Amino acid sequence: MLTFAIFLVLFYFHYQLGFSEAQLQFGFYSRTCPSAESIVHDVVQHAVAKDPGKAAVLLRLQFHDCFVEGCDGSILIKHGGNDDERFAAGNAGVAGFDVIDEAKSELERLCPGIVSCADIVALAARDAVVAAKGPFYVVPTGRRDGRIANVGHAANLPDDKDPINTLKSKFREKGLSDQDLVLLSGGAHTIGTTACFFVMPRLDAQDPTINKEFFKILRSKCPQGGDVNVRIPLDWDSQFVFDDQILRNIRNGRGVILSDSVLYRDNNTKRIIDSYLGTNRSSKANFATDFAKAMVKMGAIGVKIGVEGEIRRICNATN
Ligand code: HEM
Repeated sequence: MLTFAIFLVLFYFHYQLGFSEAQLQFGFYSRTCPSAESIVHDVVQHAVAKDPGKAAVLLRLQFHDCFVEGCDGSILIKHGGNDDERFAAGNAGVAGFDVIDEAKSELERLCPGIVSCADIVALAARDAVVAAKGPFYVVPTGRRDGRIANVGHAANLPDDKDPINTLKSKFREKGLSDQDLVLLSGGAHTIGTTACFFVMPRLDAQDPTINKEFFKILRSKCPQGGDVNVRIPLDWDSQFVFDDQILRNIRNGRGVILSDSVLYRDNNTKRIIDSYLGTNRSSKANFATDFAKAMVKMGAIGVKIGVEGEIRRICNATN
């Protein structure tokens, strides 16, 4: 009887521990779908070779996935109405769904029902970073797909017009520090573009923090009354390539969108930017390494694991 009681206690603790400690794992698919990562890699490589802008698109997709309902592929869902998460104002311009769908259909052919769409998004973002000459990092996997995608749940995404304190608190709510804020927006925007839509209000308001020469350049690219959809690099002179030039630009009043520029107007985020631009010759390497760590951290926001959620058969619909 006593032995049985001890067994029950041990079983209980084992079960509790196993369950509460359940988390993402490195190489989650190594036995169940060994080629999962290489398939995503090949699809991303191909997409970026055809269109170098796709790297930024895929990186942004993971940010917008993780900040709403956690990294659970909810942004991919398309019910057919206008109430899907992906149609939220803050998700305007988010794309890359075709690349995720392509990887998923290849994976379903080889390992049906095994690889989650949420993991494909995370792996594709990493491969996109590498394709843009950014750092390679190992992506822990095992995310499961969410079943909820509601436009209202995406109302609180970080906004380019948010004051720095709001940006900081929106990141903090997701378990991300001020340093992560600098690393993630800096590291991602080093390869991306923006629509003039986000730049024009700054120019119209004669934002005094924009370098005077740079102001003229921006105005010529995004003239008053011009097409708001014209796209310009977020990292001037260094688009498509992952590097720390964007931090230098932000420091020098050459930040393109407001949420990047404000990073140099707050004591703490300014100090963080300066730390990556120090005379230390390895600062560039640190920026890349720390960006990679921040990506892994972002990729773990609110993940669904174990028996939560599902493994979708197609990424744009729940099963
Ligand atoms: C501080 C919070 C952030 C704000 C307010 C913000 C805002 C923006 C805006 C307004 C654009 C231009 C969108 C367009 O015109 O289509 C943009 C582009 C982009 N964002 Fe962010 N962003 C933030 C953080 C991040 C993070 C954390 C990542 C990823 C880790 C990211 C990845 C990107 C990428 C890669 C692009 C370029 C997309 C492209 O070239 O198509 N952003 N962001």
